Amino acid sequence: MDKRQFKKRGVDYPIIDGVRTLPGKYYHDQDIYQEEVDKIFYKFWIYACRAEELAAVGDYKLIQVADESLILVRDKSNDIRALFNVCSHRGTQLCAEPAGNFKSKSIQCPYHAWTYGLDGKLIAAPQMQEGNGFLKSECGLPQASVQIWEGFVFINLDKNPVAFSVQMEALMGKFKDWKMDELRIAHHIRYELNCNWKLILQNYQECYHCPGVHPLLTELTPVQSAQHDASSGAVIGGYMDLTKERGSMTMDGSAAAPPVCNVSGADLQRIYYYSVFPSMLLTPHPDFVLFHHIIPMGPGKIINDCYWLFRPEVISDPKGQAGIKSAVDFWDLTNKQDWMVCEQMQIGTMSRRFTRGYYSGREDILHRLDVEVLKALGHDQPG
Ligand code: FES
Ligand SMILES: [Fe+2]
Repeated sequence: MDKRQFKKRGVDYPIIDGVRTLPGKYYHDQDIYQEEVDKIFYKFWIYACRAEELAAVGDYKLIQVADESLILVRDKSNDIRALFNVCSHRGTQLCAEPAGNFKSKSIQCPYHAWTYGLDGKLIAAPQMQEGNGFLKSECGLPQASVQIWEGFVFINLDKNPVAFSVQMEALMGKFKDWKMDELRIAHHIRYELNCNWKLILQNYQECYHCPGVHPLLTELTPVQSAQHDASSGAVIGGYMDLTKERGSMTMDGSAAAPPVCNVSGADLQRIYYYSVFPSMLLTPHPDFVLFHHIIPMGPGKIINDCYWLFRPEVISDPKGQAGIKSAVDFWDLTNKQDWMVCEQMQIGTMSRRFTRGYYSGREDILHRLDVEVLKALGHDQPG
């Protein structure tokens, strides 16, 4: 890292009195992780997939939420369902293939052939007569709630979920000009990382690290341009300004494609960074949308699926490929720079000598993320 990148640039931000980082155990402790699974990942609306991944009736994708597996499937009414992947007979996992199409328009258990409709209703239980407490109508598959916003499918595993519009208040009406439901996945990269899920959200929401970690990104969007424009409960966001007229986040800083749909005015020069707590990072650019899907696999492990969304006509045009590649290369490079410091922080915060650090004035928003976690866990103070 080039230490000269951190030369004083004219502004120092006051640190906020009394604001300290979380203790290291919040990134390592198995009990705290289990509490987060129960009180955050099983309670909040979380990102599951894009509606386009379930285009036809019978299309499905398995989604792992900590130790629960769900089948996201498009049913005969064209609705998307989130069915728990567990047979009501004796609890066998119904489906093991990660994605595909239920050609029979039903889901059959591999054990004793109980068969369910795509809507989760039990339609056949071979050689079992109703009676003595057994009623087919009461043995359908349990389901999580589903809500679609701009082509993004969210699910909630709680039996009495909070209203989607309440949790996502800061997103409602935001980014309409991008018409994200019309965008399509142009590229996807899966990263498997050795760090806690919260470190990725923290890293995403501050650019204090940018000059040293991301020299190219800092050229394209100066650190001083970073602003926060949303901090409402579970959604925290802001933007940075592009230096280059009609630029974007690509290897040479040029736009990867024409502006998306109705994006205009100041938005043509901005990159937005929105953490959709706890499972998605949403980054609308003037010409495409990048997003990350964060899947915790334990206190120190995550899967991070990164997607690039473009207009369908850009994806299908051979001339559009160079722009897409430049956007993918830029963010793959930047992602790997971030993953390296996040994984090093995961290791360092295990030290007995790490207690609680001081956030800089540029990291005030991270404290709000910490408060959101502590509030969800019901911890008044970090223990
Ligand atoms: S466990 Fe599924 S049919 Fe028996
Ligand atoms: Fe970064």
